[in-house]
Amino acid sequence: VSLKPYNTFGLDENAGFLAIVDSIEDLDEIFQTGRFRAQKKMILGGGSNVLFTRGFTGLIAKNEIRGIQVLNETEEDVLVSVGGGENWHQFVLWCVEKGYGGVENLSLIPGTVGAAPMQNIGAYGVELKEVFHSLEAYEIKTGKTISFFKEDCKFGYRFSIFKGELRDEFVITKVFFKLFKKPKFNISYGAIKETLEEMGVQELTLKNVSQAVINIRQSKLPDPMDIGNAGSFFKNPIIEKLHFEALEAQFPDIKSYPINAESIKIPAGWLIEKAGWKGFKNGEVGVHDRQALVLVNHGSGRGKDLYKLSKDIQKSIHNQFGIELEREVNVI
Ligand code: EPU
Repeated sequence: VSLKPYNTFGLDENAGFLAIVDSIEDLDEIFQTGRFRAQKKMILGGGSNVLFTRGFTGLIAKNEIRGIQVLNETEEDVLVSVGGGENWHQFVLWCVEKGYGGVENLSLIPGTVGAAPMQNIGAYGVELKEVFHSLEAYEIKTGKTISFFKEDCKFGYRFSIFKGELRDEFVITKVFFKLFKKPKFNISYGAIKETLEEMGVQELTLKNVSQAVINIRQSKLPDPMDIGNAGSFFKNPIIEKLHFEALEAQFPDIKSYPINAESIKIPAGWLIEKAGWKGFKNGEVGVHDRQALVLVNHGSGRGKDLYKLSKDIQKSIHNQFGIELEREVNVI
């Protein structure tokens, strides 16, 4: 089976088997019966954070568990349950339509709802964990469904326990969100304010903020339907203050966000651009020309070439700035 339609890099690698999973019974069939015992297995959501450097000989299970339900409602907030296979952006649009606030800054992020807590997706000053209530996950080993509350998930910057110690052990089947009925807008991110002004917005609404985020993303990030990509390829590195001060002396235009008294986050996109990689092209693979943090497949590129490019970039950033870039995408 070609995986090309199932990964946003558009990489044409093959899987031995592809299973579309839309229920717990389907998961049981794959993981608990003997039928696929001999196969290696992998769970895929929207395929928007994965780099296939070669084929996958085993079975790929695509999560298409659906359903959005309002479970509880008060004056202030609403508790919603969402199937792990729902498309993230469609869920955001549903919230905006209903007047439920909290995820509007996370508009247009590719991928599924089940994949969102895995790496605590975030953008424009908001992270998933801020509206996260809990989730249900299917334990592959036992077939049991287990609840995880916020503290259990150990959320961090683009991180959760499902990327750490519980990696490959669970399938996230349902996510519960607590959303605000009285919106609390977060427009602290400079680009949002500027875009709202450009849009001539008089009154802040969920719809306006969502549209501003959509406009920003569309102006910087390539649409995977046109150019294969997986959003940010690397995480923004966090470095020590002393290291930062030395860099700042050398590069006065360096961009940074304070984390705490000792550490500072540097936009990897700035580093990669500064090192001269923005718009770089080698055959079918390259670096996006409007956001250097995004690696792109111009058409028939191979995962192994993207991987090699990412290594070259890491080496170059190490040599020039003494900073180790860590990949954000999952390499298979
Ligand atoms: N910058 C450059 N050159 C570039 C790209 C960025 O100089 O080629 C500078 C910008 O001028 C800006 C700073 O770097 O001063 C930050 O850029 P941007 O606002 O585009 O955000 P980012 O730090 O590059 C992060 C997330 C994105 C998220 C945006 C907005 C990570 C790894 N990436 O990118 O998330 O959408 O902030 O909040 O944290 C993703 O995870 O896939 C993703 C797209």
